[in-house]
Amino acid sequence: MQTFKAVSELRAQVSVWKREGLTVGLVPTMGNLHAGHLSLVSLAKTKCDRVVVSIFVNPMQFGPNEDYEQYPRTLASDCSQLEAASADGVFLPAVSEMYPHGLNQTVVSVPVSITGMLEGAKRPGHFDGVSTVVCKLFNMVQPDLTVFGQKDFQQLAVIQKMVRDLALPTGIIAAPIARDVDGLALSSRNQYLSASERLIAPKLQATLLDIKVAIQSGNRQFSSLCTVAKNTLLAVGFSQVDYIEVCDADSLLPANKQTDSLVILAVARLGKTRLLDNILL
Ligand code: PAJ
Repeated sequence: MQTFKAVSELRAQVSVWKREGLTVGLVPTMGNLHAGHLSLVSLAKTKCDRVVVSIFVNPMQFGPNEDYEQYPRTLASDCSQLEAASADGVFLPAVSEMYPHGLNQTVVSVPVSITGMLEGAKRPGHFDGVSTVVCKLFNMVQPDLTVFGQKDFQQLAVIQKMVRDLALPTGIIAAPIARDVDGLALSSRNQYLSASERLIAPKLQATLLDIKVAIQSGNRQFSSLCTVAKNTLLAVGFSQVDYIEVCDADSLLPANKQTDSLVILAVARLGKTRLLDNILL
């Protein structure tokens, strides 16, 4: 596995691969890799001849009171996991390589019609940070395909819109959510959970599955289903429910009785840890 720190080194290798007629896949990450990230790498490997994984904790997507400084940085273990997963390259830009002009930087801003709700409402500016860095990564790597996890459902929708609107020349592949045996969606932030919080955490998915079962048995009272679910989460020990909503899986607007494709999206907090999950129906 090759390691690239400078955009110029990365581009030189990618153009050699492309001249050889090989396809290139990208898996963007912020590191602290777990089996969820590695499932994205495996999926990319099945679709592309060469796979580059980027590891960059992107300051632009963290709010002032978020965990940018504390975000776990575990480069040695990340690189050995990527080596074992047969990644071909890892791109590790410094902040100065990604943002050489600091805050004097063009921002890619996807419209509020898809960024204004859910995560975007709770984390102002977050999606500008995500779309800007992902657009830059596309230009740096020039991948044929890029893989994103469905765990960050709105992020995936935002990137898909950016790619369509700006005619960016990469295909987007969505990978299913990787979960622990008890159903908890794998996340770098799970390690912040105490032992007792870790026992409560799987109830988030369980509660979403209860809503799914109710909908599939004909209940379309989405807002009362979500109110019951919120109260259940608070009763089992979650400290706060940022949101729990049944949405149109394409527009992410609140679902109505006619909506065909549904997604149930939730963020709940255990202590200070925000857990994010969703179920696509
Ligand atoms: P990060 O949180 O490191 O996630 C990197 C990719 O892994 C994302 O596409 C995310 O959806 C996916 N992922 C994380 N946990 C997963 C799980 N349990 N199952 C399946 N996929 C999972 O998302 C980001 O980084 C950043 O916002 C980034 C896109 C890299 C831009 O900075």
